[in-house]
Amino acid sequence: MTLYGVGLGPGDADLVTVRGRRVLEEADVVYSPGRLSRSVATEHVPEARIGDVDFPMTRDEEELRRAWKAAAAEIAPRARDGTAAFVTLGDPNVYSTFGHLRRTLAAFHPDVGVEVVPGVSAVTAFTTALGVEIASGSSIALREAARGASPTGPDRMVLFKVTDVPVTHEGLVDAGYDVVYGRRLYMQQGETVVTDDPEALADRDYYTLAYAEKRGLDPRPATAAFDDGAETESEPAAHTDGGVEPTAQTDWGAESTADAATASDIASVERAEGEACGDAVREGPSR
Ligand SMILES: C[S@@+](CC[C@H](N)C(=O)[O-])C[C@H]1O[C@@H](n2cnc3c(N)ncnc32)[C@H](O)[C@@H]1O
Repeated sequence: MTLYGVGLGPGDADLVTVRGRRVLEEADVVYSPGRLSRSVATEHVPEARIGDVDFPMTRDEEELRRAWKAAAAEIAPRARDGTAAFVTLGDPNVYSTFGHLRRTLAAFHPDVGVEVVPGVSAVTAFTTALGVEIASGSSIALREAARGASPTGPDRMVLFKVTDVPVTHEGLVDAGYDVVYGRRLYMQQGETVVTDDPEALADRDYYTLAYAEKRGLDPRPATAAFDDGAETESEPAAHTDGGVEPTAQTDWGAESTADAATASDIASVERAEGEACGDAVREGPSR
């Protein structure tokens, strides 16, 4: 019948959409590409209905194609005879493993129907977690910044895969950007960190993004006048932490480090998930 690609959201089980949860509850089998996505899915689906697909820890394209053909061969009959779901963190169509599966099914099992249930992507969730507003009239670009890259150009950027924060930071600041980082936002595994201090994130964690804004931008939406204080009442503005776990600092200051006892568990979860996403995840701290 159908394979559903279900976006699980950034990692907290209650950020799965109502439709996504219904599909997971009704599916005969739910495939998860990594341990993080599996831990979210099992909040909604009994372990007995979780199916695993194996991915090699490689960037070799031939090997990856072989792995995706094998995964599609496993999943196609289950989707043909019933309902199967394949989960990904965030949204299935944003930097996700699901694209590989969809293309492989289309090539080798074209009779299998595919539907996508969108998920809350880190592309949008970062705004609330970092206290950023993308006001009407402004533009924003999505970039990757792995291995210390510092892409520049657009006025505002959300950067994914920020695996060497101090090096990326230096390039962005030199190019005239203010930068804020978010690590493990709305994730039930690992500690959420929001900070503008690159040294607080010197250790490597694949689930790190950045928001970079050119210094001196002034979009002036109508209500920006309230920020100047000229038209405000005496009441202070309401402050929200955007639903981020209490460990997050909303003043963008430095955060404490993760519990050492769980650090290696988190690192191995990160490696498995990152490699399933097609990333070679380096061992150990970045510096
Ligand atoms: C392969 S992409 C997956 C994106 C996902 N499909 C989505 O829509 O959010 C992984 C990158 O997304 C970012 N990311 C995803 N979830 C995140 C989270 N909960 N907190 C911080 N960054 C996250 C990180 O930059 C990470 O390196």
